[in-house]
Amino acid sequence: MTISNVLARFAVFVSVLGLISGCSKPADDAQEKAAADVESTSDVVELEAVVETMRDPRLALFSPLPTVMESKGNPVTLAKVNLGRKLYYDPRLSKNHDVSCNTCHLLDKFGVDGLPTSVGHLDQVGGRNAPTVYNAAGHTAQFWDGRAADIEDQAKGPPLNPIEMAMASEAAVEATLNSIPGYVSLFAAAFPDDEEPISYDNMAKAIGAFERGLVTPSGFDDYLAGDDSALNELEIAGLIAFLDAGCGTCHAGPYVGGAIYQKLGLVKPWERDADQGRFDVTGVEADRQFFKVPSLRNIAQTAPYFHDGSVASLNEAVRLMADHQLGIPVANEQVISIIAFLNALTGNIDPAYIAMPELPESSDSTPLPDPTPTLDPSATPAAVEPAAAST
Ligand code: HEC
Ligand code: HEC
Repeated sequence: MTISNVLARFAVFVSVLGLISGCSKPADDAQEKAAADVESTSDVVELEAVVETMRDPRLALFSPLPTVMESKGNPVTLAKVNLGRKLYYDPRLSKNHDVSCNTCHLLDKFGVDGLPTSVGHLDQVGGRNAPTVYNAAGHTAQFWDGRAADIEDQAKGPPLNPIEMAMASEAAVEATLNSIPGYVSLFAAAFPDDEEPISYDNMAKAIGAFERGLVTPSGFDDYLAGDDSALNELEIAGLIAFLDAGCGTCHAGPYVGGAIYQKLGLVKPWERDADQGRFDVTGVEADRQFFKVPSLRNIAQTAPYFHDGSVASLNEAVRLMADHQLGIPVANEQVISIIAFLNALTGNIDPAYIAMPELPESSDSTPLPDPTPTLDPSATPAAVEPAAAST
């Protein structure tokens, strides 16, 4: 057990057991004294169990990542995952056969493209930063403004977005899939109960099932599960600095975010207000400049930051949060400490799960790449991926 960890637990120890008061002895002495005060062996065993679970009570704000982010509506099966992985990497879901999901959400780059805003069909640039696809399926909703209810709904957006994959229609995507014999059998295996296994919805379900396995467990998860050695002293001190500052009021849950909407500039106005976030979805005045609180998992790997990708450094992002969301001054040491914790949220990517699969071959009837512009190039680019037609 590390010193800071013991200290973090010590306060709880005192209040829970009420055995030691006004005592400033080192925590280990306190534990020994407490143990000596109990008589029977069973009491000792019970006490040890209590001591083991005594940690900063604010840790209850978080919980370890699931191994798969399950969905009732789209049960995850191996056949769907294998199909979804191919679709995720397949540029033939784009008009010019040059853009796939992996173009903007690179799976070997923590699910992002590293650009302020993404580049899609014919190098057109969108208005928002591409969030990571890792751990996204567990969020309360998808997109910075939450306009898609779940990951399956989200997956219906990009293929038809004129500045992303630029396909003409759902029917055009279905025609492409039907023209590739390998997909005909893969869809039949993944959706055995469907009369017409190839459909736009099933494409989204297969991609969704694949994304539901994109989890990145980290040392923080082991720590939450009870392994005290999983975080070092600096990381634990950073976790406490994160909680003391109040970051956990918004960035909480298994994803350290992704659970609620909050106003960007809650305490001090955020100057870049061109994007009104959730207001543009709901039309409710009170939603102006509200965004989904992003997950901070892998945050050290997913710069640049914020919905417009306007901030390149994590240090600057943390300072802006303290200033605009909490209205507190933060010392340099605190920022560095918080970043030590944020670094510990960088998780492990399973290389086998994301390995680029072999894509099924095209046939003579597969549409050819089409480089003609979908939008009038002089028009203002649409800001973002549209929500799926159903939302
Ligand atoms: C041209 C770049 C581009 C392509 C191609 C693209 N995306 Fe995105 N993606 C984005 C951007 C930008 C956003 C954020 C848009 C917003 O919030 O309005 C986004 C948002 C998302 C989100 C929401 C994550 C969250 O935290 O809310 C998911 C999931 C996602 N994309 C998955 C996909 C999948 C699956 C595909 C392929 C079918 C895909 N994307 C294709 C750029 C792209
Ligand atoms: C009142 C709620 C709230 C609090 C408190 C808060 N945040 Fe945030 N945070 C948000 C929202 C909302 C966003 C998304 C902003 C946007 O739209 O760009 C965000 C974005 C971020 C980002 C950028 C994420 C990304 O993917 O680009 C980081 C990093 C971050 N917060 C860290 C922190 C830290 C560290 C603290 C404590 C000092 C903190 N936040 C406190 C609501 C909050």
